[in-house]
This record gives sequence, C-alpha cells and structure tokens, in this order.
Amino acid sequence: MAITTLPPLALYVHLPWCVHKCPYCDFNSFELRGAIADLEYVDALLRDLDFELPLVAGREIISIFIGGGTPSLFGGAAITRLLDGIRARLCLLGDCEITLEANPGAVEAGRFAAYRAAGVNRLSIGAQSFRGEQLKALGRVHGVDEIGNAVALAREAGFDNLNLDLMYGLPQDNLTGAIDDLEQALALAPAHLSWYQLTLEPNTAFHRQPPALPDDELITAIEKTGRELLARHGYTRYEISAYAQSGRRCQHNLNYWQFGDYLGLGAGAHGKLTRPDGTIERRARLRNPRSYQASAGQADSVSVDRVGRAEDLRLEFLMNALRLTDGVPRDLLTERTGLTLEPMRGAIATATEQGWLGGEPETLATTPAGLNALNRVLALFA
Ligand SMILES: C[S@@+](CC[C@H](N)C(=O)[O-])C[C@H]1O[C@@H](n2cnc3c(N)ncnc32)[C@H](O)[C@@H]1O
Ligand code: SF4
Repeated sequence: MAITTLPPLALYVHLPWCVHKCPYCDFNSFELRGAIADLEYVDALLRDLDFELPLVAGREIISIFIGGGTPSLFGGAAITRLLDGIRARLCLLGDCEITLEANPGAVEAGRFAAYRAAGVNRLSIGAQSFRGEQLKALGRVHGVDEIGNAVALAREAGFDNLNLDLMYGLPQDNLTGAIDDLEQALALAPAHLSWYQLTLEPNTAFHRQPPALPDDELITAIEKTGRELLARHGYTRYEISAYAQSGRRCQHNLNYWQFGDYLGLGAGAHGKLTRPDGTIERRARLRNPRSYQASAGQADSVSVDRVGRAEDLRLEFLMNALRLTDGVPRDLLTERTGLTLEPMRGAIATATEQGWLGGEPETLATTPAGLNALNRVLALFA
C-alpha cells in the first residue's frame, strides 16, 4: 500500500558489554572479560552503517540512542569516533537528541566530558533503587552513593538532560521502600524518570530461580502512591513507565511508540524501515558480538523479515500507540502504513464502551483504566 510521507527515522546503536550480567536482565548483554576493544567495535558499527546507507538515502535522523549493555564502558575516543562517523554518513536533525546509557558502576568524569564534547546531549543513568540491600539483590555493580556521584559528574560535564531508570516490585519490596526510592530519585531532579515494574523474563537467572515478588495489591498501592508523588513534583506520565518534566519527553522512545522508523546497528540490534511502497522491513543483526563484528558490513550479518499481513501491522501499531497517555491521531495508522482502522471499528467500539478508550474524537487513546488493562485492551484487537 502506498504512503505519502515516510515516517521519521531514528538510529539505535547497541553496545553489548557489561561489567556483570544482572540476574533479571534479558537484554543482549555479555560480561566483559578483559579489556574492551571499543574502537574495533565502533569500526564494525560503521561498516554496518555503510551497508545500510542505501536504504535510507536522503532521510534525516531525528534521534540517536546508544544503548546496551553498558555504553559507559566505552572510552571517549570510541564514542567520538562513532558519532563523527555517523555525522559523516547521515544528516542529523539540527536539535537531534543523542542519548547514551550509563551504569553508575561504570562512570568516569573524563569520559562524561568526552561524550558531551562528542555530541551526546542526554544521559540515561541506570539507578534501579536507592536501597543498598536491593541493589545487592539485583546484582548491581554499584552502591547507592555512586548514583548521586554519577548524576553530579554528568552535570559537571554539562549534561542537563538526564534520565534515571528505577524499578519497583523488587524482591521483598514494600510500599515505604519503593516510595523512598522515588523520593531519592526526585531529590536528584532528573529531567526524566523511567519507572519500571520488575518483570521475570525468560532466560534470566531470576526466571530460573524466582525471588519472592510483591503481590498485585502491593504493586497497585506502590503505583498509585508513586504516580501521585511524581505528578506533585511536576513529572507527567506520558507512557506506561515514562515520566518527564515539561519539554523533556524522550524523542527517541516517542518515535518507537508513534510507529516511526529506526535503523539498528550493533550486535542483536533491530531496525524497522518503511519502503516508499508502504512495505515494512524488520532487520535484525547477529546477537553474538564476535560473530557480529566478523560479519558487519556484509549481507550475512543481517536477517530481513517483511511484515506482510495487514492485521499484524495494525496490531503492532496499536501495541505501541496505546502505551501513550496522549494516544495518537486516528489517521496516524494510515500515514504510517497506508492501512485504515476500519476493520477494527467493532473492537474500538467495545473498548470505548468498557471505558478503556476515550479522549478527543480524532484521537485514539487509552483512558487510565485502559492503560492499566492494556493486555486486555489489545486482546480485543488480536
Ligand atoms: C539496557 S538497561 C540500562 C542501562 C544499563 N545497562 C544499566 O542497567 O544501568 C535498561 C533498563 O531496563 C530496565 N530493566 C532491565 N531489565 C528489566 C526487567 N526484567 N524488568 C524491569 N525493568 C528492567 C532497567 O531499569 C534498566 O536500567
Ligand atoms: S547492567 Fe544493564 S544491560 Fe547490563 S546486565 Fe545489568 S541491566 Fe542488563
């Protein structure tokens, strides 16, 4: 199906190493053994980008997210080579948001300054909790003090756009402790907070040996109290787990939720690209860093999947768009995919009657009740 305008295009870059693998984490991350060969890995990323370039000729990059893994293990020279290489090959939007993920246990003042000079303008710091015993239970490589230290170093290096990642529903969690975590995060006044409920993911140590997690009643109480606290401090919830001060929503993640396009570079990275005829390609890289590096820049490092069926596309679109508290314009599906919502008219009516969808007539948006019951809402559309 033809579309009139191609979606905005973002760039995700995956740096796969960590000091230690956290027992809850199912990201494509690997414990670093020995010294990091960061410059060689960056060269592989740029070969990978060269291979993708013909697919995105003439398109501007709206945001870059350097995620992991633990990108803050990479030296300043490597991140500079990466961003210089990207700028030499792609046209970046004037105020392109460039985020890098940092772990408070892998932080250095000189490195932060080099990231800033290289063009990184947003740091996302993985705090997770401000309780020492919880950080231990989560297998984190840092203590509480290192979180504040990372924030201070980031600010000294010139970063004013900071995100903190926090998790709740931790092993043996309780209301007071979870809210205290939020209060300590708020005391650091980050521009953005990602507040995730801990989930037990397949193929993780926690999944194999589950810790005792709070029941639904406690989770509901933590969420209610926490969301009120965040709102009182001026943080607007704009997605299930994302809260931001005014003007500080994460442009990169918004692009995913608004069904934009993205290039994905690095071991195990995924990309989504729309062709002018409306076809959507999912492109995935080899997950193992060594295999990825050996094959980057060649066709055998990438597997391509065409999202063909209209029903699958509509559902994928809704799975993203309905996470946003503001929802999306009803005609965004057509703009992004050339499809209409017509076949979903019955399900939309049912969800609206249930009180799960609401808002302006031209908008498709979940109500707070719908957001709480998102899986049940999506089941209506499946
Ligand atoms: C790729 S990690 C972030 C950066 C860095 N590696 C770190 O951990 O500090 C992205 C975030 O996802 C969240 N996360 C990871 N696994 C999770 C899980 N099983 N449940 C909930 N949130 C999770 C954590 O808050 C984490 O900071
Ligand atoms: S540091 Fe982050 S990416 Fe690495 S294992 Fe822990 S949660 Fe996963």
